[in-house]
Amino acid sequence: MLVLGLESSCDETGAALISEEGLLADALHSQIDMHRAYGGVVPELASRDHIRRAVRLIDEVLERAGRRREDIDAIAVTEGPGLAGALLVGASVAHAAGWALGIPVIGVHHLEGHLLAARLADPAPEFPFLALLVSGGHTQIMRVESFGRYELLGETLDDAAGEAFDKTAQLLGLPYPGGPAVSELAEKGRSGAIELARPMIHAPNLNMSFSGLKTSVLTAVRHAPDAEDPVFRADLARGFVDAVVDVLAAKLIRAMKTTKMRSVVVAGGVSANRQLRSRLTLEVRRRGGSIFFPPMRLCTDNGAMIAAAGLARLQAMTEEERAALLSRRAFGVRPRWALTDAAQG
Ligand code: KG4
Ligand code: ZN
Repeated sequence: MLVLGLESSCDETGAALISEEGLLADALHSQIDMHRAYGGVVPELASRDHIRRAVRLIDEVLERAGRRREDIDAIAVTEGPGLAGALLVGASVAHAAGWALGIPVIGVHHLEGHLLAARLADPAPEFPFLALLVSGGHTQIMRVESFGRYELLGETLDDAAGEAFDKTAQLLGLPYPGGPAVSELAEKGRSGAIELARPMIHAPNLNMSFSGLKTSVLTAVRHAPDAEDPVFRADLARGFVDAVVDVLAAKLIRAMKTTKMRSVVVAGGVSANRQLRSRLTLEVRRRGGSIFFPPMRLCTDNGAMIAAAGLARLQAMTEEERAALLSRRAFGVRPRWALTDAAQG
């Protein structure tokens, strides 16, 4: 089965072709340069740019994979969560193409895509596993029993980890998106030179909170004798990254203890973070566990993860369910959508 995946929930347009044999081709257009001037994603500009890119990217993956439009058996598209207008672009393109080609279109949950991106790594994780999802909009710890069976064990009560990175970057005058910039600056800083609060780290549950961190960063900037001093800036970035990594590591270890699960998947944009990857790898292996990350370039938003999730969904469907998809004549998107609501079985 050849599945085309389309992602357009935020600021990247992604397309990919996948089959049972694996990923055949994927292409991505990032809008980072366009949004940078505004310091963050401008939803209206994002939608307009997805319109310009989507069909071209589909052509590109078809060409790279040496396939024709008619070879596609199904289309997977991000249905939510994300920016409504941006999601609608992907959904419109997918449903128009699906209708024209007479093939089913399946709406995919963006976070299910992030989770399944780890299955595109080698070696790939086997179910069940514990998942830490860290993106720009979500920070959640889940028990993934099998495909489509997700149990939320804990989550952030306010800002997502990626959001904290982005806000800290803004306070430090670093370019959007903040994650990679803060991480790079932190590499030059000294651990322990500036200690920031680690909210909820000792709370006897798996919930987290990151909104206080930006206040600590702001306070440190305000009280600094010279906030422009490069040594101070690097130490502050280091202090911030250490705090986020400490909290995520502590909660993941707690989750391993309470669930007795040893297989761990870390996914979402922040899973591209080098400091986080090395610390979690150390902690999980020290406890006899195995840890899996998506391949580096598939940590942030992309079409391959949507194609992978769509293929898995299709494989789990009955003939009747597939036929029902084919007879649909209306479609929608779900800007707010909990992954546990997308669960099956
Ligand atoms: O998963 P993603 O691409 O989009 C959402 O679904 O939100 O995640 C984007 C988030 C942004 O907040 C970005 O700053 C963060 O992931 N991010 C990183 C890194 N790369 C991306 N954070 C820390 N270190 C990185 N290397
Ligand atoms: Zn994402």
